[in-house]
Amino acid sequence: MVDGTVASDTSGHERWLDVGDVVAVTKRRKFVVADGEATIVIVAHDGGVFAMDNICIHRQRELVKGVVLRDRLVCPGHQWAFELGTGWEAVKEECQPTYAVRVTDTGRVEVDLASRTTSRSVAAVAERDET
Ligand code: FES
Repeated sequence: MVDGTVASDTSGHERWLDVGDVVAVTKRRKFVVADGEATIVIVAHDGGVFAMDNICIHRQRELVKGVVLRDRLVCPGHQWAFELGTGWEAVKEECQPTYAVRVTDTGRVEVDLASRTTSRSVAAVAERDET
């Protein structure tokens, strides 16, 4: 587990948590970071880095113990498969909360703690899939 440094933007709407150097994050592939009450699984996959709540919305198993399969993080509990970018679980039509991730000019990976998705984003994903 990593406890990173948090930086807020001047508007206070973003809270970027530094989770490590992009090379190191890519090598680790899947790990947990914590900030206060949030525990977030970081996944480096296919050239991208993704972040979602580590505790599964179904029965609270740890997603970090799951596997990545077809761009989805599969929970070890009951195999719900969450899209890495959106957290969408297509069979159950539910969403695991996700976070925005960026790589800075200096090669640091940061997660915006303030960007945690809500039920509104669930509706957006469902609407996207209908079109
Ligand atoms: S605990 Fe994750 S799918 Fe059941």
